[in-house]
Amino acid sequence: MHADSWALKAKKLGYRSRAVFKLEEILNKLNRKKSFKNVLDLGSAPGGWSQYISVNFPDSNIIAIDILDMKPIEKVTFIKDSVENIENIDAVKTNKGRFDLVISDIAPNLTGIRTVDDENILELNLLSVNIAEKYLKDQNATVVIKTFQNNNLKSLRKHMELFFKIVQTYKPAASKNKSAETYLYGAR
Ligand SMILES: C[S@@+](CC[C@H](N)C(=O)[O-])C[C@H]1O[C@@H](n2cnc3c(N)ncnc32)[C@H](O)[C@@H]1O
Repeated sequence: MHADSWALKAKKLGYRSRAVFKLEEILNKLNRKKSFKNVLDLGSAPGGWSQYISVNFPDSNIIAIDILDMKPIEKVTFIKDSVENIENIDAVKTNKGRFDLVISDIAPNLTGIRTVDDENILELNLLSVNIAEKYLKDQNATVVIKTFQNNNLKSLRKHMELFFKIVQTYKPAASKNKSAETYLYGAR
């Protein structure tokens, strides 16, 4: 499907972003699409992924974090803060070890300087892996992380393999071909 068609489909279904279809594809591929009791959405604005979980898994409790504002979504607790500050967010701390799913679509502001951008991406990706490692349940838990095809991808994947039984890289059809973005998921 053409990129614009995903955007139109999202609009038609009332979703805030076309990113929902990437998450949908990844969750389908994971075949873990049964139920998620507690979900942590890192870098959640404008809210497409949180909306998707809220609509398709109505029994889920969702905590969403972003440095930008996000309009309210039913059953989603939104916290305006940086994920770098997660240790100080009570709603997350009290659910430590209880999350079934951590989703991170975080992207830094790009500077256009390749080495700087790659380092910033890696830093946020490593933070997402470490948050998932710390806050997910010990078993039957999944993390999905957006990253980019670059020289750091291999070492990021290796880092994830320290904590997750299954680690896979996946480029959903809904992600533009020309975009370097790709997704890593891990399961334990
Ligand atoms: C691609 S958008 C997420 C889109 C979202 N998944 C959706 O479906 O609507 C990436 C988000 O990451 C957020 N972000 C970047 N750095 C962050 C940080 N340190 N802490 C929290 N959010 C951050 C940005 O503000 C931006 O809203």
